[in-house]
Formats: sequence, C-alpha cells, structure tokens
Amino acid sequence: MQLATHRGRVFAGQPNGSGLHQVRGLPPAPRPAIGAHLPRSPESPPALANLIPLADIDPALIEALLDAAFGPDRFARTAYKVRAGTEWLPALSFAALDADDMLAGTIQCWPVALTDQTGRKHPMIMVGPVAVLPDLQGTGFGKALVTASLTAIDPRAPLPQVMIGDAEYYGRFFGFSAAHTSGWKLPGPWDPARLLCRAANPAVLPQEGMLGPWRG
Ligand SMILES: CC(C)(COP(=O)(O)OP(=O)(O)OC[C@H]1O[C@@H](n2cnc3c(N)ncnc32)[C@H](O)[C@@H]1OP(=O)(O)O)[C@@H](O)C(=O)NCCC(=O)NCCS
Repeated sequence: MQLATHRGRVFAGQPNGSGLHQVRGLPPAPRPAIGAHLPRSPESPPALANLIPLADIDPALIEALLDAAFGPDRFARTAYKVRAGTEWLPALSFAALDADDMLAGTIQCWPVALTDQTGRKHPMIMVGPVAVLPDLQGTGFGKALVTASLTAIDPRAPLPQVMIGDAEYYGRFFGFSAAHTSGWKLPGPWDPARLLCRAANPAVLPQEGMLGPWRG
C-alpha cells in the first residue's frame, strides 16, 4: 500500500478530501464527522482541525503515524500486551486532520478487563495510544483527540477508563489518576505512576487485579 507524504508529513488523502474514506470497504462518510472548524483558544483544538472516525483512515497511515510518535520498537510496550488479541473500538477511536487534510494524530480505545482475585472480570476501556506527529505536538491535537474519545463513551454505562501515560498531562486535562491503581498488575513491566484510571465512581474499582484483554 502506497504511503503518500506531503511536506514530510503523513498524508491522509487528497486535499479535496477524496480518498479519506476508501478504507475497509466503508462507504464515503460525511466529513468532518465531529469537531468541525473549532475556534482557536488555549483550551481548544487548533482552528480548522477536523476529527473523523479512525475507521475512515487507511490502516497503513495509522501505523506510520504511530511509528513516528513512538518509534518502531513500540510493539514491545506493555500496553500492547494488555490489549493483545483485541481490536480497537471504532466508536471511540478518532483521527485528527490538520487544515490541509494531513493526518495529524490518532487515538485508539480498546476493550480490556481487570480480573480480580476471585476471577471476576471488570470490563474497562483502555485509552491510547494517543499519538500526534512530532512537529505538530503542543498545538492542541492531543486534547482534541482525548476529548473526542471520552465524550463518545456512553454516559448510560460509562465503563472506567485506564491508560498508561503521563499523569502530568492526562491528570491535568482529563482527570486520570494513579490513585486507585497501585494494586493492579500488568502483563509486563510498568511504572506505577503512569498506570492511570478515570472513573465516574472510583469506589467501584477493584483494589487488586490483573489487567488484560477483554474478549467478551
Ligand atoms: C502526549 C501527546 C499525545 C500530547 O498531545 P499534544 O497535541 O502534543 O498536546 P496538546 O497540544 O493537546 O497539549 C499541550 C499541553 O500539554 C502539555 N503536555 C504535552 N505533553 C505532555 C506530557 N507528556 N506531560 C505533561 N504535559 C504535557 C504541554 O506542555 C501543553 O501545556 P500548556 O497548554 O500549558 O502549554 C503528544 O505529545 C504525543 O503524541 N506524544 C508522543 C506519544 C505519547 O507519548 N503519547 C502518550 C502516551 S499514550
């Protein structure tokens, strides 16, 4: 599959928008699906940033962006083991395009579960990776992407969200915290300060358990 680039950045489609939706046999979707032409302010995404369903993006472009943000050794990360064998959730996963329809960033969310000491599985949503192209970092794409995913979670059944990331970022802007995860285990090495959770009611979170894929 050919990867087109433009000005050294990953190109997500033709400038006129054609080609963005020729993925996985999906019919053309109206775009932008959400978040059109958001106003520029310190607390909001960049002007003209479009957020669209990640399913509308060529999978090869997603992988190229993840390589650019995390490096090619990213597959060894513990987060990949936590969600091994699962597929990202289309309804909660988004792509950010810049004003030139370039792919600027992505977010993926995954079905995982914390298995407690009795063997009971507590389903959760694993948020991330959140990835913004290095030359576009710090311009609001990350906040826009995380906001989109968290907002898309069904408020009638808001599963707890878990992630491995910087508390300075995900705590400050989104309320993630390591306060309730100190008794949780992962299938690989991890920094306890970076195992973060966000829940409508933290009291329901198991104090101990092993995090892994949720396959229903
Ligand atoms: C982390 C990341 C997703 C943030 O997205 P972004 O678009 O660069 O950040 P935003 O523009 O939304 O937010 C910028 C603000 O967050 C702060 N910030 C960004 N990354 C931060 C981090 N890792 N820790 C603490 N603060 C951070 C910036 O200082 C800035 O603060 P300010 O508003 O006070 O100036 C992005 O930098 C990235 O893709 N990094 C590489 C991959 C990665 O580490 N992903 C996270 C793990 S899943």
